[in-house]
Amino acid sequence: MKIAILGDIHGNIEALKVAYNAAFSQKVEKIYHLGDLGGYAPFVNEVVDFLIEHRIEGVQGNYDDAVANDKEHCGCKYEDQIQAEIATLSFEWTKKHATEKSKKYMKALPFDIAFSVHDRKVKIFHATPLKNNLYWHEDRDDDFYLHMARKAEANIMIYGHTHIPYRKNIGDKIFINAGSVGKPKDRDTRTCVCIVDITPDNVNTEFLRIPYDVEKVASAIIESGLPSHLADRLMMGK
Ligand SMILES: [Fe+2]
Repeated sequence: MKIAILGDIHGNIEALKVAYNAAFSQKVEKIYHLGDLGGYAPFVNEVVDFLIEHRIEGVQGNYDDAVANDKEHCGCKYEDQIQAEIATLSFEWTKKHATEKSKKYMKALPFDIAFSVHDRKVKIFHATPLKNNLYWHEDRDDDFYLHMARKAEANIMIYGHTHIPYRKNIGDKIFINAGSVGKPKDRDTRTCVCIVDITPDNVNTEFLRIPYDVEKVASAIIESGLPSHLADRLMMGK
């Protein structure tokens, strides 16, 4: 079974369209999204409409939960005070501009999706099996990975949240961070689509990186009234 994963889209409709076309051309059986549909770029409603129109199932991210339930904070991590202020502005902007339809969609998203393929249990979630705002970076020790695998009760775990893609194998467990469609943080500005092909003998992972019109989205960020710093970061892939 070949599937495509669209991680953290964050209001970037231009990246989503390109990512979707790339996934579609891979002849995948199913496309999933990993939540965090708004924030940082202005097209939260367009992203939700696109996912509904193309029947793309997915899970709820911390950002979706916070926007849909009108929470005080998005549950995001900040490296410094400037980032904290920008994240707050972006969060407030998204809460204000997300339509009731978008909020209803985000509110109804499941925490995770589980299924089996060739006797392997697959689990898809936003960040970790129990918390959707914990940062699971690649350099976590093996004990953390295995603890998460026990919590997920799965062989193959697919998630995002850090916006940096990776795959790691420990024994018969496979951990795949699908990266981010709309806000990559690995200094590669291109959108990221994760293809996972599960065969009876193998699990193959491919991270497709495809260019899209980053400048167009950066301009839209500035025109929308979101902090211009977000446009700068998008242009730097961070
Ligand atoms: Fe995110």
